[in-house]
Amino acid sequence: MGGANGKSGLRVWRNARLATMADGVAVLGIVEKGAIAARDGLIVYAGAEADMPASAGQGAETVDCEGRWITPGLIDCHTHLVYAGNRANEFEMRLAGATYEEVARAGGGIVSSVKSLREASEDELVAQTLPRLDALMAEGVTTVEVKSGYGLDLDNEKKSLRAARRLANERPVTVRTTCLAAHALPPEAHGGKDAFIDLVAGTILPDVAAEKLADAVDGFCEGIAFSPEQMARVFDKAKALGLPVKLHADQLSNLHGAALAASYGALSADHLEYTDEAGAAAMAKAGTVATILPGAYYFIRETKKPPVELFRRHGVKMAVATDSNPGTSPLTSLLLTMNMAATLFGLTVDECLAGVTREAARALGLLDKAGTLESGKSADLAIWDIERPAELVYRMGFNPLHARIWRGQ
Ligand code: NIG
Ligand code: FE
Repeated sequence: MGGANGKSGLRVWRNARLATMADGVAVLGIVEKGAIAARDGLIVYAGAEADMPASAGQGAETVDCEGRWITPGLIDCHTHLVYAGNRANEFEMRLAGATYEEVARAGGGIVSSVKSLREASEDELVAQTLPRLDALMAEGVTTVEVKSGYGLDLDNEKKSLRAARRLANERPVTVRTTCLAAHALPPEAHGGKDAFIDLVAGTILPDVAAEKLADAVDGFCEGIAFSPEQMARVFDKAKALGLPVKLHADQLSNLHGAALAASYGALSADHLEYTDEAGAAAMAKAGTVATILPGAYYFIRETKKPPVELFRRHGVKMAVATDSNPGTSPLTSLLLTMNMAATLFGLTVDECLAGVTREAARALGLLDKAGTLESGKSADLAIWDIERPAELVYRMGFNPLHARIWRGQ
């Protein structure tokens, strides 16, 4: 790493305005006249240019940022990026009046993506996913979480996770994989949800863990998916295997998924439109991040908003992510996602920016390595042609990215 940056792999970005996003400091951690130094892909200095120790800059290749803003590289902490085909036909059905749940119950929905994914080879999956990943990266994304969940049997869940891992060989980006085998009931299960959970907990998770294919375990706790009791069995197994958990919780109804996730010390609970105050309080106590997914809310024309005010009052950290998937959020723009979080849910600019950097890193258990511009973290940067950070949230469909740096390169 870093050989291309001169002898020491040392690089400095100077004459920049920084939004360090460091925790606990003033809003956004703004440094006017800032500089960042990186050695071998790690930040060794981020702060005022005038205070940069001479040692940090010695022999470095220097980039003049000409007053541009630098934020941490963006982190999309909830995606279903690996899938085959698309579901534009179901979009048309919904435009004609069907709801997402009706489409799902009629054999469409997640199960139709399962059919497409099972027919695709691992190579085809990677090839179909790369354009979506490229779209995210073009807006400064340097870390992306990718879930399985359209395989729903051992071989196809593993194929999905291997395809996700391979994305990191194809592109300069950090990929975190999540096994979402408990996403929906596959057709061959013939309605046997408990027997399918036996397969997930007894076979799929242990095998995936043994091959180190997943960094976390997720599930879909919902009437059209799995009950809290069934999810608890999945989480018990994940815990036994040493894997952190997350949950699609309270998206379409309140099954108290947020509280369930918190009781397992989940990294995050996601969606949360129907979460109540007890759920928010439990999340705060457990340090479980609330991942806000406005793309799905918008796309399925949900009307119940996540309880942002409760999260603020209880001190629950909020991440913001695309939920990029073929059924409820065919969205590959984290910038537009921030605009939606602000416009639809009333998040502030600061909350949006923290949601796609620091809090997204927290939701992935990566806060020690990414998400802020601080010494010791990965030199993942996004350099923007903007006058003020609010522009990143304000525009729709415009990309002001000047440069994207991953691990110092
Ligand atoms: O995050 N909620 C469940 N899973 C996805 C939807 C997946 C699909 O419809 O394909 C979501 O919204
Ligand atoms: Fe999702």
